[in-house]
Amino acid sequence: MFGFMSTVIQARNLQKHFGRVHALDGLDLDVQPGEIHGFLGPNGAGKSTTIRILLGLARPTGGEATVFGQNSRTDAVSIHCRLAYVPGDVSLWPNLTGGEAIDLLSRLRGIRSRDEYDRRKRHLLDVFELDPSKKGRTYSKGNRQKVALVAAFAVPAELYLLDEPTSGLDPLMEAVFRRELSERVADGGTVLLSSHILSEVEQLCSRVSIIRAGRRVEEGSLAELRRLTRTEVSFSAANLTEADLAGIPAARDVRIDSGRVAFTVDSATLLEALPVLAALRVEGLTITPPSLEELFLRHYGLDRNDAQPPTAAVAAEPAHARHARSGR
Ligand SMILES: Nc1ncnc2c1ncn2[C@@H]1O[C@H](COP(=O)(O)OP(=O)(O)O)[C@@H](O)[C@H]1O
Ligand SMILES: [Mg+2]
Repeated sequence: MFGFMSTVIQARNLQKHFGRVHALDGLDLDVQPGEIHGFLGPNGAGKSTTIRILLGLARPTGGEATVFGQNSRTDAVSIHCRLAYVPGDVSLWPNLTGGEAIDLLSRLRGIRSRDEYDRRKRHLLDVFELDPSKKGRTYSKGNRQKVALVAAFAVPAELYLLDEPTSGLDPLMEAVFRRELSERVADGGTVLLSSHILSEVEQLCSRVSIIRAGRRVEEGSLAELRRLTRTEVSFSAANLTEADLAGIPAARDVRIDSGRVAFTVDSATLLEALPVLAALRVEGLTITPPSLEELFLRHYGLDRNDAQPPTAAVAAEPAHARHARSGR
């Protein structure tokens, strides 16, 4: 295959300014073949702007992006033949039926085998429970998403650019989406899946880039990112002395709160603490594994209680000033 094993998406120091708003502020992104790459960030972080640049729909103010090793702006035509795109807010031709829209979108990407296409389309309409005979203007938001998803999955693509594709789908349909997407990747596709929902990314993705205010703040496999957080251990404080607690190896942030002892431990050293806890005959033991959520909140927690979702960087205001203002 052309471009075998080379990076599918590479963005370097992408900038996108809308007046004073720096939607992208030096964003890097790397997606390798065969990955389902989670592109995680709160509303306004710059996910859609990045994807629009990758599609050649927006011109970066600075930096550059390649898709399949080709320039996202100048080579947009040949890039588009090889990818499927699903935005988070699909608009359809009001007077075409869903089925006609699916055929049109699929034909733009090139149907190689009619039989294969018909078979896949029937399967997808069935599992997504979509009636293709309705006019576009009568579909609900969720059904418009389904039309775009069926079209995206009906013709094999090398790259699926999915920008919050499940918005408006109910949980049952999200599960269908996850299953169909996994099959497309098993067929050899690569996925960039943008989301502001951590659990969705955790269920699907092999690697994750976390972005905030137009920059990548973390990148790694789920296991690598989890390792950045710690396991939380807690148990009843009854009948325990200070000396007992001091003897627990590798315990950090030990605290006693409403009759319970709690501490954190590096996930790798948890096993050393367990025999000590057993010897102390602790009661009501709970062990909470490291969670991406903790990491996620470490990056976004500043803004968690704000009425407004975190917004992109504003020019001419240094980062530390913004953090200070967001009320730590
Ligand atoms: N066309 C535009 N004009 C002005 N500001 C924009 C435009 N598109 C996006 N922005 C701003 O850029 C920032 C990033 O937006 P976006 O990429 O849509 O974030 P996300 O998809 O992560 O929610 C936001 O502050 C948004 O308001
Ligand atoms: Mg968006």
